[in-house]
Amino acid sequence: MQKYDYKALYQRSMDDPVHFWAVQAEKYIAWYQPFKTVLTGDFEHLNVEWFSGGKLNACYNALDRHLPTRSNQTAFLWEGDHPDQSLKLTYAELYNEVCRFANVLKKFRVKKGDRVCIYMPMVPEAIIAMLACARIGAVHSVVFGGFSPESLRNRILDAECKLVITANEGLRGNKIIPLKKNVDEALTECPSVESVIVIKRTQNSVPWDDKKNHWYHDEMQTVSADCPCEEMDANDPIFILYTSGSTGKPKGILHVTAGYLVYVTMTFNYVFDYQPQDIFWCTADVGWITGHSYVVYGPLCNGATSVIFEGVPNYPDFSRYWNIIDKYGVTIFYTSPTAIRALRREGDEYVTRTARKSLRILGTVGEPINPDVWQWYYDVVGDGRCQIVDTWWQTETGGIMITPLPFQTPLKAGSASWPFFGVKPEIIDTHLVITKPWPGMMKTIYGDEKRFADYFKKYPGTYFTGDNATCDDEGYYWITGRNDDVLKISGHRIGTGELENAFLENHHVAEAAVVGVPHDIKGETIYAFVTLQGNVKPSDELKKELIQTVRHAIGAIATPDYIQWAESLPKTRSGKIMRRVLRKIANNDLKDLGDISTLADPSVVEKLIKDREGIADAHI
Ligand code: PRX
Repeated sequence: MQKYDYKALYQRSMDDPVHFWAVQAEKYIAWYQPFKTVLTGDFEHLNVEWFSGGKLNACYNALDRHLPTRSNQTAFLWEGDHPDQSLKLTYAELYNEVCRFANVLKKFRVKKGDRVCIYMPMVPEAIIAMLACARIGAVHSVVFGGFSPESLRNRILDAECKLVITANEGLRGNKIIPLKKNVDEALTECPSVESVIVIKRTQNSVPWDDKKNHWYHDEMQTVSADCPCEEMDANDPIFILYTSGSTGKPKGILHVTAGYLVYVTMTFNYVFDYQPQDIFWCTADVGWITGHSYVVYGPLCNGATSVIFEGVPNYPDFSRYWNIIDKYGVTIFYTSPTAIRALRREGDEYVTRTARKSLRILGTVGEPINPDVWQWYYDVVGDGRCQIVDTWWQTETGGIMITPLPFQTPLKAGSASWPFFGVKPEIIDTHLVITKPWPGMMKTIYGDEKRFADYFKKYPGTYFTGDNATCDDEGYYWITGRNDDVLKISGHRIGTGELENAFLENHHVAEAAVVGVPHDIKGETIYAFVTLQGNVKPSDELKKELIQTVRHAIGAIATPDYIQWAESLPKTRSGKIMRRVLRKIANNDLKDLGDISTLADPSVVEKLIKDREGIADAHI
C-alpha cells in the first residue's frame, strides 16, 4: 500500500500546480531534454501547452528505460480467445519486436507525423504496432475491430492515413471477424493508403493484392532489431483516437506526447496503487481510450506486468474472467459496468467456483455503475476485501479524472468520489465541468479546431464534459450520465447523429430520430423513431432490415433494440426535431412533456404516444 495523504497532496496540486506537475513530470518520465515551462496558455484562448521545450519519446519511456532492470520481467501475459492459447512477452522481447516493426514502418516510408491506422484484434502485435509508431514519431489511429468497413473508411479518410495494419481475421468468442475483408472494403475509396500490413491470426486465406498487401511475419524477417527513438517535442502528437460527439461525424481526439504520458503514468500508479509485484489486468480493447491509457502506456511506463485478453467474458463460459484471474494471479482488475452486469445476471456460482484470492483492487470505467451492481462486485467478485475504484474520465481527458484512491478514499457505492490530483471539477446547472487545465487533456480535434473550441464555449473558461453530476456534502461526485446527444451502449460511446445517418442509408427511410432508453445489461440502448418514404409499408421484415442497415453502417455495437414507426416526427415551426419529447415518449415518461407549444403540429405527439403502446413487447 502506498503511503500519502490524499487531501494534503490534492491541496498542494491546487495551490501550486506548476510546481506539483514539474515534480511529477520529472518523477514519472525520462526526458532527452528538460521542459522549459510547465504550463502555458488557458482555456479561454484554447492554447494550453504542457511541458513545452521538453523532448522525449513515448516508446523509450514504455520500454527502453526499463531494459537495464527489467529485461527478463514479463510485460504482457497474452490470453487468446481460446483458453489453450497463451503467450508471454518479456520487456526485452517486446522491445525487440517493436524495434523491428518500427523498421518495417520505415521501410514503408512512414515518417514522423504520418498517420497509421491500426485495425486489429487484441493480439500483442496491436500493441507492438502502436509502440512502433510512437518510436518513430508516427501518429497511430487505432480503430476498434468491431467497427464496420464504412466507419473504418471514414476514420482513415479523416486522418489521411498512409498505412493500415490489420489481421487476416480476428477471433472473439470462437467467432471469426473478417478484418482484412473489412479493410479491403474500406479501402475502395481511400487514396491515401499505400500499403496494408497483415498479421496472420488464423490459418484461413484471404483475398490478396500482391502490390498493396504485405504479411507482417515476412516483413519482420527483412529488417534489423536496431531502431533509435525519434526525439519528440512535448507537444508533438502521440495519437488520434476517434470518438462520438452529438453530431454525425466522429471526432479525432488528438493527444500529445508529454502531457498525456505524464498523466497516464501517474494516474496508473496512484489509482491502482501499483506495486512492483502486481499483475494488472484491464479488459479494455486497445481500440478504446481505456486500452490506450491503461493497457499500453500507463502500465508499460510504470514497468508493470499486465494480462491482455483477446476474447469475451462468456466464452467458453461465464467463468472466463475469473479463471483468467486465477490462472495468472491477477491482483488488480479493471473492467466495465456492462461486463459486471452481464456476469452478475448469470448467478454467483460462476464466480464462487473460482478462487480470486490474488485480487486486491477492482476497477470500473465507462458508465455509471449502480449501487446494487457495485455491491455485487464488492461482495461476490472481491469477497468483501478489495478496494473498488469507480473511475470517471473520457477519451478527451486522456486519463482518469475522478476516482477513489485505494485505501485513501472511504468508498461509497456508485460514486466516482473525489477528483484526482490537479483536477478541479465543478457543477454548473447539473453539468460537470473542469475548470483548470490538466496534463492529460486532448490538444485538439484533428482537422477541426471549431469542434475543439465547442468544449470551452458553453461556460467560458471551463472544459464542458457533456456529463451530468451531483456533488454531496463530503465532496463526492456522482456522475449520472450524458447531457448531450451521446449514448453509452454497453459502455460504447455512440452519437445519435451517427445512428440517424446510418438509418438514412436505407433508401426506405425518409427520416429517423434516435434517443436512448435504459437497458438492464447494456445500461442504455437505442430507441429509434423512423419515418418511411411515402410509398413504403412498415413491416417486421423491414425492421430487421433496418437493424442490418445500422449494423452495416457502424458495427454490431450499434444494434437498435427498439424501432417505432412514426408517420411524422415532432418538429418546431423552424423544422427542428424536438428530441426532448421523443426521449419522454420512448421512456414512457408521459406525465409532463414540458413545453410543446412551439410544435408545428402537436397532434404528432399524441399519435406517437398511442403507437408507443406495444413497442416494449416488440423488443427485438
Ligand atoms: O458519460 C461518461 C462515461 O463515459 C463517457 C466517456 O466515454 P469515452 O470517451 O468512451 O471514455 C470511456 C472510458 C474512459 C463520459 O463522458 N463515463 C466514463 N466513466 C464513467 C462514466 N460515467 C459514469 N461513471 C464513470 N466511472
